[in-house]
Amino acid sequence: MIVLAVESSCDETSVSINRNGTEILSNVVLSQIDVHKRYGGVVPEIASREHIKGVTMVFEEALKEADIEVKDIDLIAVTKGPGLIGSLLIGVNAAKAFSLANNIPIIGVHHIAGHIYANAISEPLQFPLVCLVVSGGHTELILMKEHYDFQKLGETMDDAIGEAYDKVARTVGLGYPGGPVVDRLAATGKPNYKMPDISLGKSYEFSFSGIKSHVINLVHNLKQRNEELVIEDLCASFQETVTEVLITKSIRAIKEYDAKMFIIAGGVAANKGLRKKIAERITDVKVVVPEFQYCTDNAAMIGVAGYYQFQKEQRVDDMSLNGSSRLNLN
Ligand code: KG4
Ligand code: ZN
Repeated sequence: MIVLAVESSCDETSVSINRNGTEILSNVVLSQIDVHKRYGGVVPEIASREHIKGVTMVFEEALKEADIEVKDIDLIAVTKGPGLIGSLLIGVNAAKAFSLANNIPIIGVHHIAGHIYANAISEPLQFPLVCLVVSGGHTELILMKEHYDFQKLGETMDDAIGEAYDKVARTVGLGYPGGPVVDRLAATGKPNYKMPDISLGKSYEFSFSGIKSHVINLVHNLKQRNEELVIEDLCASFQETVTEVLITKSIRAIKEYDAKMFIIAGGVAANKGLRKKIAERITDVKVVVPEFQYCTDNAAMIGVAGYYQFQKEQRVDDMSLNGSSRLNLN
């Protein structure tokens, strides 16, 4: 089965083609990061316009790179949410137009299901598995007992982890997106700054707004007192505290649900500090982390999720944008 996938939920325009889900024939990603950088974050209106500018070219390149004929495509998978509505609309409408013009069935895919299925490109998933979802908009622990079955064990009660990374970076003037820079600087710093306890006991819930405010206050206070701020140490302290809470809750969930596999998903899955902790501390179950190129937003992951969604549900959509999200997390 050949699947063409489209992703446009935030600031990446991407089209990918796969054979039977996990054989990626092409994955073209047009990033808008340089356009949004000067504003310190993604500007939704600009993002929509950039998607319009790029989407046709990205379709053409993905088809060319995969070296397949349009008539060979069996299914179109497109991110239908969550994300910026103006951005989503461009990808959904492009996918719908392609579907109508070429008479190919189409399905809508939940963006986070895509992030989760990025792991299946590396290794077949084994169940039950625990997945730690860490992105710019989500922080969740998910239990999967079979393909396309998602049970939410816990989530953040306030900010997502990626948001907290970006805010910390912004506070100390490291630009956007801040996560990768904080990660890089943390590697050379020492966790010398005291951070608040964000463990929330034994629950699977997370909270990152407290540590975010703590970092902002710390930086302001040091400035006021004309004291030196060692940015590397601040990054190391922040990273040590947040990755510790992520790993501790993940390990607890793996044990409680007798998981065979542990996977991570979302942009923050690229974090080197988190990957190091996972490699050191989760040694008794199979661990899979997505390849770096499939951590941040891309259509390949949407194509894999779309393939498995179709296998399970044997159903296609009419793709009117009012459908509720398909990721049943309850
Ligand atoms: O999954 P993603 O591409 O977009 C959403 O669906 O939200 O995640 C983007 C987030 C941004 O907040 C970015 O700063 C963060 O992922 N990120 C990182 C790293 N690489 C990307 N955060 C920490 N360490 C990294 N290496
Ligand atoms: Zn994402």
